[in-house]
Amino acid sequence: MRVPFIDLSRTLGKIKKDVLSDWEHCFDQCEFVGGPGVKILEDRLQERMGVSNFVTCANGTDALIVGLLAMGVKPGMRVAVPNMTFWAPYEAIIQVGAVPVLVDVSDDDLQMDLDEFKSAHEKFRFDAAILVHLFGWVSSRLREYRHWCRENNILLIEDGAQAFDVVSEGESVYRDAMLGTVSFYPAKVFGGASDGGGISSNNGKIAEVVRALCNHGRAGHYTYDYVGFNSRMGGLNARFLGRVLDHMDDFLESRRAAEAFYQEYFAAHTDLVKVHKAPEGVESNGYLSVITCLKKSADEMVAKMRDVGVGCARTYPQTIAYQPPVKNCMRSSDLVRSEAFSKSVINLPLFAGITLVECEYAADQLLKALRS
Ligand SMILES: Cc1ncc(COP(=O)(O)O)c(C=O)c1O
Repeated sequence: MRVPFIDLSRTLGKIKKDVLSDWEHCFDQCEFVGGPGVKILEDRLQERMGVSNFVTCANGTDALIVGLLAMGVKPGMRVAVPNMTFWAPYEAIIQVGAVPVLVDVSDDDLQMDLDEFKSAHEKFRFDAAILVHLFGWVSSRLREYRHWCRENNILLIEDGAQAFDVVSEGESVYRDAMLGTVSFYPAKVFGGASDGGGISSNNGKIAEVVRALCNHGRAGHYTYDYVGFNSRMGGLNARFLGRVLDHMDDFLESRRAAEAFYQEYFAAHTDLVKVHKAPEGVESNGYLSVITCLKKSADEMVAKMRDVGVGCARTYPQTIAYQPPVKNCMRSSDLVRSEAFSKSVINLPLFAGITLVECEYAADQLLKALRS
């Protein structure tokens, strides 16, 4: 048996016919950049996410850059960011000329640690923060984060690239965010037919700035209020995303079933691995299987799994602090928790449409490798 780490064809098969018919319509109407498909998608997402504004853009990294600018982050301002994350949040801070402050993650939920965040603020007095909702769930202290940031005048940007449809305390995680972002990169929970992204906000003024910044800073067709970007969604991608959204509940169910399977399977093997999961009160979207190896090298496990036909990943094998462009960056501490996690993490196959037979094979193979 072979089990890929990810197989997009399982979901593509379900939407292909409808997408091709939509794309024919786009061709007939020359609906290539923006257009009715984009507007329909934005309206549907506003409703699903429980927010009053949602603006699409070209990718999730632009969403962060535009989000930082629209919230008022200026060159030289300090912005806190977790040391364990994908590179884009760090990149976005640098791209707007701000100064990153790295903060360690919590062992409990693997999200930026709120206590350490607070003590880092005492030391470095940052002005803003990117709270990255990692691995398909969010911090157990999300409400506290938002409250504390409001009280302390910290501009809070929430990176939801991996958190589409995550539910916290019964609500969409986007609902109460000052500003939240999404990535529609094809491998994400809500993946498109090319790069894509978006920004949510309940603040109409911020949303207006976001919309202008994503479209060259335009006020009118040839008048400009800001120096912005060309970061717009294409019509074909919007129509594709609309068809994915039609099936989203089924896709989420399949991801969550696989995630639950791995949790149950390894519950009897806590001496060998820890299977991480969403904290109490948070419903994950099944984005990723996140497992740490307690006794064996994670790199070795990935290699062994490849030999038996199981695709695995290590998300993320190096923290931000270890990337070559990150020199003398301010740090909340010695960042040991994110470092330890990065050395031991392994991700098993998990995607919409994976079968439990495939999950069982992958889990059996990992157990064998861990015991060898
Ligand atoms: C946490 C996080 N933030 C931001 C991004 C950037 O999104 P994109 O690839 O759409 O630019 C990604 C994903 O790729 C991500 O995982």
